[in-house]
Amino acid sequence: MTSLWLDRDQAIPVDDFVPGSTYDTVVVGAGITGLATALLLARSGMTVAVLEARSVGAGTTGNTTAKLSLLQGTVLSALRGQYSQKIVNAYVEANREGQAWLLRHLQDRAVPFQRRDAYTFAVSDRGADRVRSEFAVSRAAGLAVEDVADPGLPFATRGAIRLPDQAQFNPMDILESLAADFRAHGGVLVEGVRVRDVSRGSRVSITTGAGNVYARRVVLATGIPVLDRGLYFAKLKASQSYAAAFRVPASTPIPSGMYLSAETPGRSLRTYPSDTGEMLIAGGNGHQVGREPSPRARLDELVDWTRRHFPGAEPTHTWSGEDYQATNLMPFFGKMPRGGGKILFATGYNKWGMSNSVAASLALTAEILGGNLPWAAAIHHRVTSPKGAAAIHHRVTSPKGAAAAVALNADTVMTMARGWAKAEAAPPDAAAATVPAEGEGIIVRHGRKPVAVSTVDGVTCRVSAVCTHLRGILSWNDAEKTWDCPLHGSRFTPAGDVLQGPTTKTLPAAD
Ligand SMILES: Cc1cc2nc3c(=O)[nH]c(=O)nc-3n(C[C@H](O)[C@H](O)[C@H](O)COP(=O)(O)OP(=O)(O)OC[C@H]3O[C@@H](n4cnc5c(N)ncnc54)[C@H](O)[C@@H]3O)c2cc1C
Ligand code: FES
Repeated sequence: MTSLWLDRDQAIPVDDFVPGSTYDTVVVGAGITGLATALLLARSGMTVAVLEARSVGAGTTGNTTAKLSLLQGTVLSALRGQYSQKIVNAYVEANREGQAWLLRHLQDRAVPFQRRDAYTFAVSDRGADRVRSEFAVSRAAGLAVEDVADPGLPFATRGAIRLPDQAQFNPMDILESLAADFRAHGGVLVEGVRVRDVSRGSRVSITTGAGNVYARRVVLATGIPVLDRGLYFAKLKASQSYAAAFRVPASTPIPSGMYLSAETPGRSLRTYPSDTGEMLIAGGNGHQVGREPSPRARLDELVDWTRRHFPGAEPTHTWSGEDYQATNLMPFFGKMPRGGGKILFATGYNKWGMSNSVAASLALTAEILGGNLPWAAAIHHRVTSPKGAAAIHHRVTSPKGAAAAVALNADTVMTMARGWAKAEAAPPDAAAATVPAEGEGIIVRHGRKPVAVSTVDGVTCRVSAVCTHLRGILSWNDAEKTWDCPLHGSRFTPAGDVLQGPTTKTLPAAD
């Protein structure tokens, strides 16, 4: 599937990879986090290279719905359930700075974006309670939210709030602009080079499939970190959610705001002014990666829901993306434990990465250049060790966050056991005779080894069904035609190439 945003003719200009090169900073990943951080560092006069495994925007940023809003569904009331209002205010301040920085960048470089009101709406009594809580916490955090009787949606609602004057855009326009600005400041942007490992000595050595490069520090902007230091893969829940763009007949009105439901399954709506007229974008129906028997059914349900409420709507693009929620609900950014202060990272934006990513980039840059951002200090306060070694970070946490981490990991262990039990009961494929129908993937056994067999575009592939991260058993994604890991969200092509971390290793062929 290709998103509306990634379906574009013009490639973003990039540079050659030169093995053996040394930079002040190497940034891994060319999504919004990586490119914003790289630009900020390059502007300060540093030599910076961005290494992207696939292509610019190929990860979550090219598959988002790209609403840039401080009203974020029911995020603030969820945070308030775990933290003091002071910490919630720091989160809002971080997002306000991220949003303002991005809008300034867009205005300065004449990148198109649209000002829109953001809404959180409810369709049930429970949702209405959540909307009321969100209103109270948002007001307490200084956001000018308004109670709205009629949010202008073509179905009945049970309550809604609005935050005027937020923004939406095409995320690939942003990445293109950040990339051009970065390269104009001497930055090196490389595509198609996957970082496999990072080791630190007097300088950091970055191992890729195409050779090593060196730096004084590395920033992991890979979504879930591709290094296991700090065990962040066990503190993040990987979720897959869906989106579709529609052409809608002139007789069917489209509301102009940006909407998100307070209930599960999530329903997200916005518009897009394409060259051929206003389009409708619907999103939602998320689930934990690799845990859904039929992702295709989730996507189909989203499309059916949209068609039901917007008569005549016809999808032009459907897509999905992966994003991460921290067990303590707060984005992670800063120095990685056991990285000697030379390995930094940012992730866990909980589907609100447009502003959180830029906030994280500002915080990482301040960390590297020696600045001080009060909201960053409130979210993750900084403590210098008694021996005077590098500053370490004590991330805000809460009893609820700690309990969520324990529950997530217990659930991961159960999922691992269930996956292996199922794989051991899978049918044998001794003569390698199993050929799934077009678009399908199944798990079989070669002796005791679980093998993932799939047929896509007429090609049947047989690869190990054991995730190269920590040995989870993969499951078939019938929407994206990928093998997905239900433990920490790694994803692979039918031929076993890595699409999404935390793993960095391909699946071996079965034979
Ligand atoms: C369907 C959906 C809708 C969303 N809607 C919104 C929204 O409306 N508003 C909002 O604020 N947020 C939204 N989000 C969240 C937001 O899109 C993300 O939080 C954000 O794009 C994350 O950006 P990133 O740069 O951190 O990650 P990514 O964009 O995923 O970038 C990481 C990059 O790292 C690369 N990489 C990974 N491993 C390696 C490696 N080993 N070596 C080299 N490169 C590597 C990847 O290929 C990728 O390009 C949505 C998310 C989804 C899934
Ligand atoms: S992603 Fe961790 S085991 Fe697969």
